Amino acid sequence: MKLNKILSIAVIISGLSTATIAQNISIIPEPYQMTTKPGNYTLPKSIAINAPSSANVVSDQIAAKLRTTTGRVVSLTKNKSSIDLQIINDANLGTEGYTLDINEKGIQIKANANAGLFFGWQTVMQLLPAAVYSNTLQANTNWTLPYVSILDKPRFGWRGMMLDVSRHFFNKAEVLTFIDDMVRYKYNRFHWHLTDDQGWRIEIKSLPKLTSVGAWRAERKGKWMNTPAPGINEPKTYGGFYTQEDIKEVVAYAKARFIEVIPEIDIPGHSLAMNTAYPFLSTTPNYPFQVNAGEEFMDWEGFNGHVAAKIDNSLDPSNETVYEYLDKIFGEIAPLFPFEYIHMGGDENPKNNWEKSSNVQALMKKEGLKDQNEVQSYFVRRVQKIINSKGKKMMGWDEILEGGLSGDAAVMSWRGIKGGIEAAKKGHKVVMSPNDYNYIDFYQGEVTAEGKVYRGLRMKTTYGFEPIPEGIDPNLILGNQANQWTEQIFDIRYAQYMTWPRSMAVAETSWSPKEKKNWNSFSKKVERQFEKLDAANVRYAISIYDPIVTTELNTKGELFGIMEGEVEGLDIYYTINDQMPDNYSEKYTAPFLIPDDVLSLRVISYRNGKQIGKYLNIPIESLRKRAVKVL
Ligand code: ACM
Repeated sequence: MKLNKILSIAVIISGLSTATIAQNISIIPEPYQMTTKPGNYTLPKSIAINAPSSANVVSDQIAAKLRTTTGRVVSLTKNKSSIDLQIINDANLGTEGYTLDINEKGIQIKANANAGLFFGWQTVMQLLPAAVYSNTLQANTNWTLPYVSILDKPRFGWRGMMLDVSRHFFNKAEVLTFIDDMVRYKYNRFHWHLTDDQGWRIEIKSLPKLTSVGAWRAERKGKWMNTPAPGINEPKTYGGFYTQEDIKEVVAYAKARFIEVIPEIDIPGHSLAMNTAYPFLSTTPNYPFQVNAGEEFMDWEGFNGHVAAKIDNSLDPSNETVYEYLDKIFGEIAPLFPFEYIHMGGDENPKNNWEKSSNVQALMKKEGLKDQNEVQSYFVRRVQKIINSKGKKMMGWDEILEGGLSGDAAVMSWRGIKGGIEAAKKGHKVVMSPNDYNYIDFYQGEVTAEGKVYRGLRMKTTYGFEPIPEGIDPNLILGNQANQWTEQIFDIRYAQYMTWPRSMAVAETSWSPKEKKNWNSFSKKVERQFEKLDAANVRYAISIYDPIVTTELNTKGELFGIMEGEVEGLDIYYTINDQMPDNYSEKYTAPFLIPDDVLSLRVISYRNGKQIGKYLNIPIESLRKRAVKVL
């Protein structure tokens, strides 16, 4: 009896401690396989790392991190170690997989390659107290980790994130910060959108005007596409570019973190900066071009329902000098980027100026091209030949399929997944980055609280994406990518705000087994990640606490408000009498009438009696505008 009682108490204690440990474990992306065990390992006063010298790139980073943050002596040793890194041979793990055991002996990471050791270490970082993410000494921290046994490997080989550095310029240090932020969530492809209408950002030594002219524009502080065109003599004070030495440094920094860098030169459209530098590359060579400063210059529906340019931002496909220049550009770029692909953009190319050009018409006749899509396809094939001649494969946005695509070109599907499906059916490799799931420039919470950027995209929607469409050969789907466009992102702190935590959802879709994905447990993990991002001094959005506010208009013309939490466990309170709400205001339980005399809906969310998230004040005009008619 007594023994039984002792045993059952022991079970309860160990059960409790296991539950507590499990609750404290918040690894994103979710590992392939994980078992937790009761018990904790605490880093000793003097930390020893045992690793083969071939893994120095990993062990040196681990040692530097632990020295900075724990302030302890960290030595590399062949003797008894606290952290043991081993290269093994296990076909099941691939090049990026690893096993991780934390037990009374310490931390053991095993992998086939250094990449796996590095990703294993990222998991260890997530198991340590959040303070480990700080860049300063955290002396009073108890450096304890739960006992776990993990076998982990990625679902996709391409786990990408794109940063647009053209619309707004991010200097080298800021780009490195962006890469640091990717590392925590096991991203491995950095797609660098280096050129666009708002600036050319990479030094091309043989074509100096690309940067001396194309990297600079008039400065604007206001709303994108709602801003005056630059005066012809207005000083071009905003911009910047990366020297080739800068590029090498960024590529090496990424490589040490097992991230490949894909450069994008966006052509033949999105080339206003290039046309400003060398106007004769366009079909309108006498136009007084200026690098776009954010003023409206495109008509998105204008040309037979397709995009049209009011100012010509396309290269002239009939001009041989264009291909000579592109040969120089890709010739200088190829050696800077060791990765196999170069991205040539190809998106949103307006063809209205091509249509008007007698030279383009002559090209069509000569080459037997029957429409503008075939002209674009001709251009893409010429570019592909140039890129291939530099020893690289070409990738482009899904428009490169228009008019026909050949060879080993890969397609990045952004207008939903249909381009990806079409490309895969034709045997091309595909990266999925559909705008309706993975465009992390779209506002992420209540529109009236966030800045309006094209449209909204909740993290829950992003999390719901499945990159392999039914009936498509999964081997052709290289992976999944989030895109950060920066038309309305002026600085790196705001880039972080728009990127996190939403990109954790893309990371989990890209790495974790499909069957392991679960929104409710994922969103709880996300909340636990906030303390890690705080420690790392990374800005992030708390829009997951914004209730999703919709309205319905019934047949009598009455407006009803409907609110739903994006995450579990929110208590939502509101007023419609223009008073500030708190947790004694009306609690939302069911759709409510919004009478005609209401000016605004004010909303606040609480959890466990404490305000969480931001206060929303939604004007009646916005509530009416979003109303869905119920018949
Ligand atoms: C794109 O978003 N235009 C690729």
